[in-house]
Amino acid sequence: MRKQEDGKIVDRQIVQAERTRVLQLTDPHLFADRDGRLRGRISWQTLSAVIEHYLKGSWRADLVYLTGDLAQDESLGAYRNLRDAVDPLGLPVDAIPGNHDDPDIMHEALSTYGLCSMRETSGWTLIGLDSRQPGEVAGRLGPEELKRFDAVLEISSGRPVAAFLHHPPIDLQSEWIDRIGLEDRDSFFDLAHKHANLKLVVCGHAHQAFDHSEGSIRVVGTPSTVRQFKPGAAQYELDQQPPAYRRLEFRADGSFSTELVWVEQ
Ligand SMILES: [Fe+2]
Repeated sequence: MRKQEDGKIVDRQIVQAERTRVLQLTDPHLFADRDGRLRGRISWQTLSAVIEHYLKGSWRADLVYLTGDLAQDESLGAYRNLRDAVDPLGLPVDAIPGNHDDPDIMHEALSTYGLCSMRETSGWTLIGLDSRQPGEVAGRLGPEELKRFDAVLEISSGRPVAAFLHHPPIDLQSEWIDRIGLEDRDSFFDLAHKHANLKLVVCGHAHQAFDHSEGSIRVVGTPSTVRQFKPGAAQYELDQQPPAYRRLEFRADGSFSTELVWVEQ
């Protein structure tokens, strides 16, 4: 969303800490109406349950990443509901759009959040990438966003990088999902291999858990806070798995760890 402006990287924020913990919430598909249902489940309720689960535990995040499909009905009310759910966490938030999001309404409603920003924290660079393309379900970074990614990898030379984007840049052996992934994944990985500092890619969109390695780059996907799709399905098929969220920890020695948390209802 924040594109390169006059050759500069915008929203650069630097934090020194031994470790940085990130809470990833993805695909909440909220409606302006808090009773709105996504395929039978009330998305406001399930997001609230996920956040309540996080708050009841002892694991504490330093940052929140929202990785797209934040609104199902592209309404201002849906994004206001998102803020009502997320703001009480009292944490810095980075939001990344998915195919269901409206960038203008997102900008208006989430103006105090980082929007596809770059953060330098605990020796890592965390970068949010905008893979949404207007009117399409599949994702594409496009030349401008790839140029920004290239510049971020360049100025992060010698430091590990983690990228957050909505669309998975890999196939999941699920025919219908693989048709709507990241179209310019080859360009994405070409840049990653050129700079050799991208360590982790964190996605949403597929509404299922996955954990793959693309050479030395780990690519993880996080299930939705509402509804999941069946892994390996050739055509659209729901899964009965519960809502979920992801914990990530980035350490100053260059290591990281991640854990998926299912929230039984
Ligand atoms: Fe989604």
